[in-house]
Amino acid sequence: MSELSTKGLRGEVPFAVTQADRIPAKRYYDQEFYDLECKHLWPRVWQMAARLEEIPEVGDYAVYRNLDQSVIVMRTSATEVKAYQNHCRHRGVELVQKRGKARGGFICPFHGWRWDKDGNNTFAYEETAFSAENMCKADLDLVPVRLETWMGCAFINFDNDAPPLRDTLGEFGRKMDGFKAEQLRAEWWLAAKLPVNWKLAMEAFMEGYHVATTHPQLLPYGVTNKPGDARYLKLPDDTVTVTFWMTVGSTMPEEVDSRQFIDAYAEVMQTLSEGMAGMTSPEEVEVVRSLRDTPLPKHPAEAAAAFRVILNDAITKYYKDNGMDCGDFNALDKQQLATNVNFLFPHFFMLPVHGAASSYRIRPTGPEECIFELWSLKRYPEGQEPPVPEMPEPKPHDDPSWPPIPRQDYANLPRQQRGLHSAGFEFMRLSNQMEGLISNFHRLEDGFLGGADQESLVKGMQTVSGAIDMPVKYWD
Ligand code: FES
Ligand SMILES: [Fe+2]
Repeated sequence: MSELSTKGLRGEVPFAVTQADRIPAKRYYDQEFYDLECKHLWPRVWQMAARLEEIPEVGDYAVYRNLDQSVIVMRTSATEVKAYQNHCRHRGVELVQKRGKARGGFICPFHGWRWDKDGNNTFAYEETAFSAENMCKADLDLVPVRLETWMGCAFINFDNDAPPLRDTLGEFGRKMDGFKAEQLRAEWWLAAKLPVNWKLAMEAFMEGYHVATTHPQLLPYGVTNKPGDARYLKLPDDTVTVTFWMTVGSTMPEEVDSRQFIDAYAEVMQTLSEGMAGMTSPEEVEVVRSLRDTPLPKHPAEAAAAFRVILNDAITKYYKDNGMDCGDFNALDKQQLATNVNFLFPHFFMLPVHGAASSYRIRPTGPEECIFELWSLKRYPEGQEPPVPEMPEPKPHDDPSWPPIPRQDYANLPRQQRGLHSAGFEFMRLSNQMEGLISNFHRLEDGFLGGADQESLVKGMQTVSGAIDMPVKYWD
């Protein structure tokens, strides 16, 4: 397979990726490139617009904004959610802001025109003072936006010719269905304002290669990050040890002490739970601790694999006993569906660890700034769900209130954005084994910017959406 698409379109894109493991630096700050993304990428992709618990009752709405577009996501019945462009058909005023209840529909605050929850215009004040042409009924209804609901979220797409969301999800779709992600509820929701390109922000989460250096507290039992000591341990496919702090591993001892191993595992889970203020729940950490007298095989890889199975059974049982049926975690492992960090093209992540998860959404606000949102998601017995978190005001990336792990990730980013401008820095050099997702993402983006055909874009989306840490892949 040649390095690039055989369709010869990418060359027309400025700063196109012409060698898969080299990403031109200008893609992260050039205004013309950013303008192309605004014109050819964002209007054509499925964007995560709202979590469904934000709009539990008929008439509830949530506003989603990206770039200069604003969309109303509205629950219109127990089973249906619709989306409309957020503007008055008279003189363009945004009809609603943020989130709220519009049981009786919408009223424009300027001259009082009205719409019902299905977007039909029901009233135009002094109608007879307008020409018949300007009062054409079909033109007065709110402009619908395509919407699909899946995994507890509403996704919107401005492109009426785009393929259905389902057709684009690839492995990400199978993983989230297996994980029963639709059962999760937001525990909290935060947003950061990052002084970096939106792609740079996402790429800090597209590989586990940085964990040993950026998050040394997550190194597993027996592993250090001393120079020359850390290495990227690739486990054979049939060894299902999918927690990322284990795949980063290096110098495991010759023989495992079961109790030490389990205590260290609990310690890492606890560090992760506190460090992310979510992602793995304190209840799950307790389940790990309850297993500390379990004997394990002596060989490190065998011990890790055996403990994974034991822990999966214990956590599956914990949820069942507490009235939350979230499936069988060992069954997920067997199908290789339980990866910890998963990307959905173009701007969304799910990070499940056992039954809980973190989730990220990234939106550009300029060539060199973006909003990075984080959710902590958990499962709750019916009737015990927490109140829906408020829509967050973005905080600075260095706000002291950030949990330790995102703070570590955010600390690198502004330095990286500045370094990209350095006169001698032309391209990022990627590992084609560990950082392939970054390349795959950029080459798919070039497909959108360069006018690749629909079939190629669908194959690209199916390839790119799934676990991180993937090698460079080709799809056309
Ligand atoms: S702008 Fe909305 S009614 Fe006039
Ligand atoms: Fe990180």
